[in-house]
Amino acid sequence: MNAQTLVEVARAMVSGGRGLLAADESVATENRRFAPLHIPETEEMRRSFREMLLTAPGVGKYISGVILFDETMHENRYDGVSLVQTIVDNGMIPGIKLDKGLVPQALTEGEQVTEGLDGLSARVAAYFKMGAKFAKWRAVVSIGPKTPSHRALYANAHALARYAAICQAGGLVPIVEMEILMDSGHDHSLETSFAVHERALRSLFDALAEQGVSFEAMVLKPSMVVPGEKSSQKAAPRQVADATMTVLKRWVPSAVSGVAFLSGGQGDEEATANLSEINSVAERVGRPWPLTFSYGRALQQAALHAWNGSDANAKVAQAAFLKRARLNMLAALGKYTAEMEHET
Ligand code: 13P
Repeated sequence: MNAQTLVEVARAMVSGGRGLLAADESVATENRRFAPLHIPETEEMRRSFREMLLTAPGVGKYISGVILFDETMHENRYDGVSLVQTIVDNGMIPGIKLDKGLVPQALTEGEQVTEGLDGLSARVAAYFKMGAKFAKWRAVVSIGPKTPSHRALYANAHALARYAAICQAGGLVPIVEMEILMDSGHDHSLETSFAVHERALRSLFDALAEQGVSFEAMVLKPSMVVPGEKSSQKAAPRQVADATMTVLKRWVPSAVSGVAFLSGGQGDEEATANLSEINSVAERVGRPWPLTFSYGRALQQAALHAWNGSDANAKVAQAAFLKRARLNMLAALGKYTAEMEHET
């Protein structure tokens, strides 16, 4: 695939207010989501839940692309059509999670580094053949009294940059995700989160430039600047939006094709309200990139509870999913208001 096509895919992933559905939970993570609802932790249940999401009527109006886990990439619908084809038929772009998850980073105070570079170019080639057009790799940064360390930021940024380069060489648009955790058990303030975002984005773009990654042919997936989940500080959307826009404008090159936020443990409505406010602030201060969503939990939670393991609930669950998808699209367009949460 040539460079121009990669840029076109990257732009299509983030334009018109549409955003990404992160449905790439590993088997273990998806089972963890099922467990409290007593949904059987089987491949058939995971397949069935994802088929319900991907076949929601009109989903492609709000969702530009779907990130899949390897298991889903190989699965079919009840009627035999592949889930990858279902995504394409519904006007969306298929993508694949390429990292192999987190491991403890040696000689750090409990920090983690993401693995998955070995054999990556062969995996990129295989998924490209299966129809994937983009990929994702997630690095995490935890905030603690002595963390993040320089060596953890450096190692994670380096791995992300190597991954992004390998993707671009193999014809996939890399989603470059660096999540500053809000739910790692610390009570850090919004100001601390801001300072860590500065350090993390600075190391990240340094590493991406070093590896020759094309900024135009990638999508950045950052966290929003929010206080730690255990903090007593409660940040209003306006504070989150001001801090997030300031840090992004400082450290993200304007050549990047788009920014698609993760939800990171925010509540459904909170993630939508914050995205909306970020877009309002961006309108005022000027913005070089579209700012949209690439949510996992904040798009799926309500639908998962409504579905609850039974296809008899599929229609209600699809309605819950489409509502979040539509409201997040409106937020990305700066047209969301909190009253819309109560409209039927
Ligand atoms: P959340 O929106 O649930 O944080 O998930 C997004 C994601 O893709 C994490 O890697």
